[in-house]
Amino acid sequence: MNICALFGGPHKKGNTAALLEKVLDGARSAGHETRRIDVTGMDIRPCKGCMGCKKPKAEGCVQRDDMGQVLDAVKSADVLILASPMYWWNLAGPLKNVVDRFFSLPFNAKVEQSAFAGKKLMLVMTSGQPAVSDGREGLELILAKMCEFTGMTWLGTVTTGTGGTPLAEQSDALKAARDAGATL
Ligand SMILES: Cc1cc2nc3c(=O)[nH]c(=O)nc-3n(C[C@H](O)[C@H](O)[C@H](O)COP(=O)(O)O)c2cc1C
Repeated sequence: MNICALFGGPHKKGNTAALLEKVLDGARSAGHETRRIDVTGMDIRPCKGCMGCKKPKAEGCVQRDDMGQVLDAVKSADVLILASPMYWWNLAGPLKNVVDRFFSLPFNAKVEQSAFAGKKLMLVMTSGQPAVSDGREGLELILAKMCEFTGMTWLGTVTTGTGGTPLAEQSDALKAARDAGATL
């Protein structure tokens, strides 16, 4: 399978990137193709809400920025991974902008051929609170709803909270992340 990870954190070698790399490492060990796109720092502007992408003769989003290459990668992926540090119980801003810009693809599986139909969606997230009490259930509910609406399968979250313990010392969490990737 073709696995596309959209990484939205500010630290290329931080907790979230480390957890994501374990997932991707596991996926590669199972023979899957992986691609990681670091969206922070790319020229990806917020959705303008102009609805230009929904006009009868529209050719996608009216904004010509780096989102075009992200959408191409999304379209060809079998599995999408959203990887983000938890920021206020949510995705970090750059990744939220990317998700908003998914709007320019056909997405409503009930009324059209959704560009997302048949794909799988996974969240990779780290938090400052221990994962057991980090409160991510609101975000998981949103992503599960997004999957239902677009025709994707929600795979759930690979996560760990640091709770003050550096991720590098959390061997159980790192192993669980690699196993999750290997069983995609
Ligand atoms: C702006 C901001 C908001 C945060 N919000 C939360 C939060 O809501 N819950 C939480 O447990 N940790 C929160 N954190 C902590 C980070 O999620 C945590 O340190 C994470 O592991 C950082 O990942 P990174 O090393 O990939 O940047 C926040 C940190 C920042 C900078």
